[in-house]
Amino acid sequence: MFEDPIAQFHGWWDEVKRDVQPEHPGAMCVSTVSASGMPSARFVALKSADAEGFVFCTWFDSRKGKELASNPNVALTFWWEEKGWQVRVEGVVESVSEQESEEAWASRSRDAQLATLCFQQSQPLASEAALEEKLHQAQRDNAGKPIEKPPRWGGLRVIPRSIEFLTFRENRLHLREYYTRSGQQSDWEKQLLQP
Ligand SMILES: Cc1cc2nc3c(=O)[nH]c(=O)nc-3n(C[C@H](O)[C@H](O)[C@H](O)COP(=O)(O)O)c2cc1C
Repeated sequence: MFEDPIAQFHGWWDEVKRDVQPEHPGAMCVSTVSASGMPSARFVALKSADAEGFVFCTWFDSRKGKELASNPNVALTFWWEEKGWQVRVEGVVESVSEQESEEAWASRSRDAQLATLCFQQSQPLASEAALEEKLHQAQRDNAGKPIEKPPRWGGLRVIPRSIEFLTFRENRLHLREYYTRSGQQSDWEKQLLQP
């Protein structure tokens, strides 16, 4: 039985990667809220999780980036079907250091770097062909050169206030282990919630 939710998260995530080997084991739904109170949600890739928080990378000028800049409250949701596990995280977001963003950029494949250069995330697109042409242009322009991280792309860290682990039960009596803490330095408190 875990008492530290970060250890529990790693216990589950590592087990999913080892036993299930999904194509996208870190796929997580990021829910944001606009300045006018409208929620929106999309999947991104979890980069890392530790005592500091849960990190993903994106364009800061994207819809999610702008929403988080105006309202840093955020929720993450994971669902690992083969295990019947759901994880819910609620907290606030902060930018990671420029160095961490550089490291995250460097860890990406060259193809991913080139593709990321080609779009202004969340903006209207004239056609798929226009995007493909931009990619070809980027390939030509950057041939033989290292690809620098765009300044408006980087990591965001979700600092959790609560983390809930749900173990799905066929009889619907799902186990819900709910951890909360009052501040970033406080100890986690654990309780069970009704399914
Ligand atoms: C499995 C999966 C992983 C994704 N990973 C990322 C990611 O790490 N960063 C990102 O910006 N978008 C990622 N996307 C695309 C987002 O879902 C989304 O389309 C994009 O970030 C624009 O969202 P926004 O307009 O709400 O800002 C991913 C999509 C999927 C399905």
